[in-house]
Amino acid sequence: MTQDELKQAVARAAIDYVVDGEIIGVGTGSTANFFIDELGRIKHRIKGAVASSEATAARLKSHGIAVFDLNDVDSMPVYIDGADEITPHGAMIKGGGAALTREKIVASVAGKFICIADGSKLVDVLGSFPLPVEVIPMAQAVVARKLAALGGEPRLRLKDGRPLMTDNGCVIIDVVGLNIPNPAEMEAAINGIVGVVTVGLFAQRGADVGLLGMADGVRTMTFRQGSAA
Ligand code: 5RP
Repeated sequence: MTQDELKQAVARAAIDYVVDGEIIGVGTGSTANFFIDELGRIKHRIKGAVASSEATAARLKSHGIAVFDLNDVDSMPVYIDGADEITPHGAMIKGGGAALTREKIVASVAGKFICIADGSKLVDVLGSFPLPVEVIPMAQAVVARKLAALGGEPRLRLKDGRPLMTDNGCVIIDVVGLNIPNPAEMEAAINGIVGVVTVGLFAQRGADVGLLGMADGVRTMTFRQGSAA
């Protein structure tokens, strides 16, 4: 199976977690895109969706799915999104698609976080994938120095030779070479750096369920039972 076929398989499996008549939170990235395409087939069953990025909102709308502003939504049972890395405990690195802040916000409202990923994303220790950190532009240099002090090599993310700007008008610093044996501790430490908007560690609130695409099928990993928003 190709990586795309594995992503498609978990996207299909995630449909079982969609709650009829409710609003669903939807992530960003290629796996989330496969999920949106599956969601399009059953759109009559849901009230609508909250998007974690402008790109996701556009794809949802292209399928005729109503997109709600998070400010108009009190709760949602489920948030479904991909990951760049996920541990056997459900801690994740996210933000490869630069949508980490909105992803973390939407996930915080959901009762359950369902992570969908191809099996290559499963790791014992986070950190081989560069850790994305969204930063206020004027704080880029000072935050980079503080991230370097944590042991990583900070690199400003570029697009077409210029700093990539997120949907929130911020920049992304990718931290290369971190070894993250305690993701919740590292998340708290980076959250404490002034100028950081969001760190792409999802450990304090990790995934509740992982659907991982393996050569022999979709493996379901249950990490938690979810929590009321
Ligand atoms: C976007 C993300 C994505 O979930 C993550 O980058 C995985 O992407 P893909 O499904 O394309 O492998 O966090 O900000």
